[in-house]
Amino acid sequence: MDKETSKKVVVSGIRSTGNLHLGNYYGALSKFVRLQDDYDCRYFIADLHALTTNPDPASLHQSVKDILAEYIAAGLDPEKNIIYVQSDIPEISEMYLLMNMHVGIGELMRTASFKEKARKALGITSDSDEIEKEIIGNQTNQRVNAGLLTYPTLMAVDILIHKADFVPVGKDQEQHLELTRRFARRFNSFYKTDYFGEPVNFNFEGAALKVPGLDGSGKMGKSEGNCIYLIDDEKTLRKKVMRAVTDEGPQAPNSPVSQPVENLFSLMSLVSTPDTVKYFRDAYADCSIRYGDMKKQLAEYILKVTLPIRERILDIKGNDEYLSKVVKNGAERAREHASRTLKEVREIMGIRKI
Ligand code: TYM
Repeated sequence: MDKETSKKVVVSGIRSTGNLHLGNYYGALSKFVRLQDDYDCRYFIADLHALTTNPDPASLHQSVKDILAEYIAAGLDPEKNIIYVQSDIPEISEMYLLMNMHVGIGELMRTASFKEKARKALGITSDSDEIEKEIIGNQTNQRVNAGLLTYPTLMAVDILIHKADFVPVGKDQEQHLELTRRFARRFNSFYKTDYFGEPVNFNFEGAALKVPGLDGSGKMGKSEGNCIYLIDDEKTLRKKVMRAVTDEGPQAPNSPVSQPVENLFSLMSLVSTPDTVKYFRDAYADCSIRYGDMKKQLAEYILKVTLPIRERILDIKGNDEYLSKVVKNGAERAREHASRTLKEVREIMGIRKI
């Protein structure tokens, strides 16, 4: 709860690693928009987190601008929310250093997202022991950098620096949120204080969302190359949906549904009506389903969501003056909150003026 607004505080961010896709939209951004009227919302672009995968400087900068335009185009109102770029808040970097003193290397190495990224960077396909051996054994190996390891500390600080109550994120970020609560508890217990609360996810649906990809895999993601982007034009989007992986179709009434087809049902339930989903589920059950028809319908529904957003993105994107005004104002407001927390954290930890 913020003392001045007496509203619960909501904080969330998205990494600037490319354009936003339907996973980002349904897992996070659409929730940001729904929360903006009733909560004290602070949304940012996580450019420091994006640095963990060493992007080239020009594309990082472009990506920050793209995401900012996409936030606003999707309905985030800079008047109602604090919208800022993570690196514009130096207090976050300092508190990240302080918080790291209470975070164990072992617990970071066991984080699922770290293991997955380290495995990818090292080209390892098997278990975690091999990751640890490879990282520790090879001293010239810089493919797994320290920033990647301490990613959850930085994320915890993003959240705790605002003393957030709610953090709307998709399912893949829940482990990071769990670590945030653990770090908050540890800080409180070490310094014998109740300074930090324990922020939780915010789900309108009752459970965190995982939006599936079009390639039959479990999750839509940039590095999986299976995304529908908010900025996709009509032709590209239709083509992607029509090429989505399916199977040879149900061979007998009431057959079990394969993962790739279940993914299409999941996407359909996000963008269409319960009636439409029921229609295709029934058609699957009695073997009359034609995947081509279902995909055509799915593309129509997705376009209804994304095309108006796309138009607004194209409108806003080129307006550098407006975009920089938004983040300048956002940074000023975010820094007010962040500097207060940092001052108090320094004091609690014993960093005091002589
Ligand atoms: P990132 O940039 O990977 O993703 C941004 C948001 O989109 C959600 N998301 C999905 N949700 C459902 N289905 C999917 N297929 C899907 N793909 C992505 C993510 O769950 C996330 O909510 N570590 C964060 C960024 C971050 C952050 C924070 C978030 C940094 N600091 C503090 C909240 C609070 C990340 O990498 O998200």
